Amino acid sequence: MSTTLTLFKNEIYRGNLILVNAKFPLVTHSNVELIPTNEKYSDILLERSAATILSHIMRDVNCIDEIVPVSGYRSKEKQEQIYLESLQESGQEFTEKYVALPNHSEHQTGLAIDLGLKKDVIDFIRPDFPYKGICDEFRKTAPQYGFIERYPSGKETITGIAHEPWHFRFVGFPHSKIIVEQELSLEEYIQDIKKYTYDGKHLEVIRGEHKIEIFYAPILSFDKITLCMPEYCSYQVSGNNADGFIITLWR
Ligand code: DAL
Ligand code: ZN
Repeated sequence: MSTTLTLFKNEIYRGNLILVNAKFPLVTHSNVELIPTNEKYSDILLERSAATILSHIMRDVNCIDEIVPVSGYRSKEKQEQIYLESLQESGQEFTEKYVALPNHSEHQTGLAIDLGLKKDVIDFIRPDFPYKGICDEFRKTAPQYGFIERYPSGKETITGIAHEPWHFRFVGFPHSKIIVEQELSLEEYIQDIKKYTYDGKHLEVIRGEHKIEIFYAPILSFDKITLCMPEYCSYQVSGNNADGFIITLWR
């Protein structure tokens, strides 16, 4: 028994796994629902499920009084303003390292957040988020819930962005776990997943009693693709913002 899943080309620009970087701009400003991550910081917003899961991590790590949200969703205009102000205040070399060009920032997706250790003065572009204490506890816990440190040290030439210990991206579980365990950048993971296809071998992850399968479905030059999905399972679909979909099957 199976059900049919039809995916349309314009949907590759949506979902938790979209890759937004210097090469792949944000294409749609689809109606992502945004909510505050913390009621005390009502102007810092994230996409609804990312915000909810972030608040679960904060509660479980017990860091709500020590770690603060610094910057979440940004409109294109906000990213433009940040970019221009950084150019004026800190120059081109610094800005190219730490601020994405407008329409190339994953802050515009609502899936990325900068976090800082709470203190009197917090640097907006480069908040302090050390590899020790409560911040590191957060960093180590986040992948179990779907968040990754997006710009790790050593991946600068791949991500195009300098090491940013404070910038976290929601990609969803188990992608977050695989990315961190295999020490991949999101760019590398999105590329890697292409070897697991609908007809071929799937990437398998065991979680408790469940088997999770992940595979890639390219859209190529078609306007839509149709896949047969097994009946008794749930699945999530995300575009990759480039050329196809990543399907996550929970059996
Ligand atoms: N700081 C990240 C790269 C951004 O501006 O989106
Ligand atoms: Zn950021």
